[in-house]
Amino acid sequence: MINTLSSTTTVSVQTSYAVKNIKLAKWVSEAIALCKPDKVQWCDGSQEEVDALCKEMVDSGMLLRLNSELRPNSFLARSDISDVARVEERTYICSEQEDDAGPTNNWMAPTEAKGILNNLFDGCMRGRTMYVIPFSMGPLGSKIAQIGVEITDSPYVVASMRIMTRMGKEVVEVLGEAGEFVPCMHTVGKPLNVGEKDVAWPCNPDVKYICHFPETREIWSYGSGYGGNALLGKKCFALRIASTMARDEGWLAEHMLILGLESPQGVKKYIAAAFPSACGKTNLAMLVPPAELSGWKVTTVGDDIAWIKPGEDGKFYAINPEAGYFGVAPGTSEKTNPNAIRTLKENCIFTNVALTPDGDVWWEGLTDTPPAQLTDWQGQAWTPECGRPAAHPNARFTVSATSCPSLDPQWDDPAGVPISAFVFGGRRATTVPLVVESLSWDSGVYMAATLGSETTAAAIGKVGQVRRDPMAMLPFCGYNMGDYFTHWLEMGAEVDSAPPIYCVNWFRLDEKGKFMWPGFGENLRVLKWIFNRTEKKAEAVKTELGWMPSFQDMDWTGCKSVTEEKFSKLMNVDAKLWLTEIESHKEFFVKLADKLPKKFSLLREKMLATFTR
Ligand code: OXD
Ligand code: MN
Repeated sequence: MINTLSSTTTVSVQTSYAVKNIKLAKWVSEAIALCKPDKVQWCDGSQEEVDALCKEMVDSGMLLRLNSELRPNSFLARSDISDVARVEERTYICSEQEDDAGPTNNWMAPTEAKGILNNLFDGCMRGRTMYVIPFSMGPLGSKIAQIGVEITDSPYVVASMRIMTRMGKEVVEVLGEAGEFVPCMHTVGKPLNVGEKDVAWPCNPDVKYICHFPETREIWSYGSGYGGNALLGKKCFALRIASTMARDEGWLAEHMLILGLESPQGVKKYIAAAFPSACGKTNLAMLVPPAELSGWKVTTVGDDIAWIKPGEDGKFYAINPEAGYFGVAPGTSEKTNPNAIRTLKENCIFTNVALTPDGDVWWEGLTDTPPAQLTDWQGQAWTPECGRPAAHPNARFTVSATSCPSLDPQWDDPAGVPISAFVFGGRRATTVPLVVESLSWDSGVYMAATLGSETTAAAIGKVGQVRRDPMAMLPFCGYNMGDYFTHWLEMGAEVDSAPPIYCVNWFRLDEKGKFMWPGFGENLRVLKWIFNRTEKKAEAVKTELGWMPSFQDMDWTGCKSVTEEKFSKLMNVDAKLWLTEIESHKEFFVKLADKLPKKFSLLREKMLATFTR
């Protein structure tokens, strides 16, 4: 159906469904008047719609169709060289009060931000089509789910949002006449003059703004077409805006994977686990058990984000608000994540990976030996000797959750899955043991709040520098981190018995700088101990940090690489290092000043006293 919007505008509006929601119709009309697109298309989420868009993108050079035999119905996008990652320094929380954004976020006053954005968005879609994307974060109609509508001028965003969210006309039906939605405005920030030829990856290399308005629950994103800057359901909505909703409404929006763990006896539990970016969350969520423990099953509910609400039975229930994976490609292989490799067989969008001569994809780590020739992520000829990476280190795959062989049968359950344990992990070369169970909810929240990741010499030239990344939410918490800690402390009392909290570290190094823990499938040994602890079936020793397994408490069947001696090094708690560690918590806490929960200072002092005794 082609409609003409009103007598004052000649823009053609393409839609195949009626919109009864007055707020939505009004907001879209205002967006059309502001952005001045040539055309408007209300997306219905159908296969035909995305096929047509992908064909248009192939014709315009924005997508390259991969070899249909090797990688059916899959595409490669190459972004502009300036548009390859999230832009934390251009990301703002625009709360009325600066203090509500807190010292860990960039802040701008809402009126100032709106002034800048209204100027930038004025005419920003000239020469382009405006797409209206209704989407649901979480199973349609679930009490835990939320609806958003993204307006964008990027067909790549439409195709990606169709994978990453439940998207299309059903969402508008659920919204009805008066349903609430989060308006998400997005433009690549590159209007086209009459007759101007488009570039393959339009964006604004100089000006980018990713703005969140927690009070009015809006998102405005300008200048980038990439990932978390442009697929606004993900980090912007499902974490930054949702974390403020969660604070106000008594739930949790977290940077967590959710996995199901089933014992050989058929007992099933769900674990939610938070790790900073690039710590192997997707690998853990899709873990394949080692052969000797093959009676155990790991299933995937989500690999990045969890929304968790107290249920009527006094337990926490979690959903994965997303419907797909936007995973880092480099390092993903048959060895590190065989389920991901199977997930990526067809129907994928790859971004910034390398292209093989026969029209398939490649990235560092996919195979031990790189192909002799490739086209790199920038479209240049590449050989193994050339000294450049073939794929960008942040190259991504976008693929539907339903393609994943380890997908949990409950992944789409509107009620969510019950959470039996929370796990937090960072990348620490020293100090932090392989696994520890906190002594209480409060001390677990403290451990999670002081989570850190160490940078390696290769990365920044300084070994041992710890970036504190509380709950792995540093770039994603939409409000003051001190208030967020208080919210976490309070949430423990919202369920009958709060799940135990664990801290893990897969990344401890030996004296030679080698990883001591084999990781990947072997992580199941730690998960099994956690599972048994929640069943009260595993022993543990009480230490200064919490409950820790001794060698005999874990299942080592078939594991040759971890001896008792190595295990004791992996679990070692060095009092001197811990005194320095606890001292450094203070440096981070000082920033949060009077918003820091009083309980944290007490817990810190208690820990200091234990280690000085
Ligand atoms: C991600 C991230 O892309 O955490 O998931 O950066
Ligand atoms: Mn993430």
